[in-house]
Amino acid sequence: MQLPTVMNSAALRSHWHVVAETNDVVSGPLAVTLLGEKLVVWRDSTGSLVAAPDRCPHREAPLSAGVVKDGCLSCVYHGWVFGVDGRCVDVPSSGKGVPVPPRAHLSVVAAAERYGLVWLCLGEPVAPIPEMTADSDPSFRRINSGVAIWKAAATRMVDNFLDVSHFPYVHSGTFGGAQEPLVPPIELVDLDDGYHGYRYEVVANNPDEAQATSGSADALVERTMTSGFCLPLAVRSTIAYESGLQHVILLLSSPIDESTSYFTFVVWRNDDFDVPGEEVISFDRAIGEEDRKMLEQLSGGLPLEQTALTSVQADRASVEWRRRLTTMMGS
Ligand code: FES
Ligand SMILES: [Fe+2]
Repeated sequence: MQLPTVMNSAALRSHWHVVAETNDVVSGPLAVTLLGEKLVVWRDSTGSLVAAPDRCPHREAPLSAGVVKDGCLSCVYHGWVFGVDGRCVDVPSSGKGVPVPPRAHLSVVAAAERYGLVWLCLGEPVAPIPEMTADSDPSFRRINSGVAIWKAAATRMVDNFLDVSHFPYVHSGTFGGAQEPLVPPIELVDLDDGYHGYRYEVVANNPDEAQATSGSADALVERTMTSGFCLPLAVRSTIAYESGLQHVILLLSSPIDESTSYFTFVVWRNDDFDVPGEEVISFDRAIGEEDRKMLEQLSGGLPLEQTALTSVQADRASVEWRRRLTTMMGS
C-alpha cells in the first residue's frame, strides 16, 4: 500500500500544529504556512484568533498584506473587510446596504491558544492539543522560547528528539560529553498525560552555563529522564534531578513544507522562580542549536517505510513512533 506523505496526509490535517506564539499575533495580520497552505492569522474585535487561507476571495490578494483595524482585517487590494469568524462585513465598492455575496466570507480554519502558543488545525480536529499537566500546577512556571524555522523535515526532528544515542556526538559541546555511547535497553511504556516512550538515567556534564538549568554546581549531575511522543509530532522530555527539581520540555515541530518546519520548545519547571526564564532555557537553546545544525544537513523527510532505514535497539522509541504515525496516516 502506498503511504500518504506527511504533506498530503488527511490525518495530519486533522491534528493541531503550532505556527506562532500568542504574542506574535498582537493584532496581526500574521502570514504563516502549515502543511503547504498559506494562511493569515489575526485577532478579531473580541480578541479571538481568526485563521483563514491567505487569499482574498475577491481577486486573491494576500490578506496578510492587509491591515487590521478594530479587529477587522481589510484587504490591501480593494478594501473588502473581514470580521469575526472571517465574515466579510464590507465591500466598499458596493456601498452601504448592499448585501455581501455569500462566497465573500472566508473559510476559516480552527485556531486555538494554549501554553502561550497559536495552534491551527486545517481539518476537523480529531484529537485534543497535547496535554501538559504541569501547566495547571502552580508549583511550575512556564517559559516559552519563541518559534523558529528550521530547514529540516518535522519527521526528522521528532525522530531526533526521541533519540538518545546521538547525545555523546551531537551534544558533545553541551551536556553530552560525559555520556557513554552505549544505550541501555529501551523499554517502551505508557507515560502520564498520554505520552508513550521510555525512562532512563543519565550522568550529564554540568558546565557553568548549565547550572542555572540543573540547579546544581557539581561538575556532573545525575538525571532521571523520560522521553515520549504524542502523535503526530509532539515530543515531551522530562528531567528530574536528585534535588527534586523537575524540568519538563515540550518539543513541537510543525511541517511548513516537505523540508522546512516551525520549531518551538516550552519549558515547565518547579523551581523557586528566581533565575530569569531566559537564563533557565539558554542551555536548552544551545542544545537545540546543535540538533538544528545536524538536522539541516539531512535532506527531505524521514523515510516512513520501516525497511527504508537500518535501526538498532537504541532507536526503539523512534521506530515505534514511526510505526504508529504511519498507521495513523494510512487509516
Ligand atoms: S483582492 Fe481583496 S478586495 Fe479585491
Ligand atoms: Fe539532540
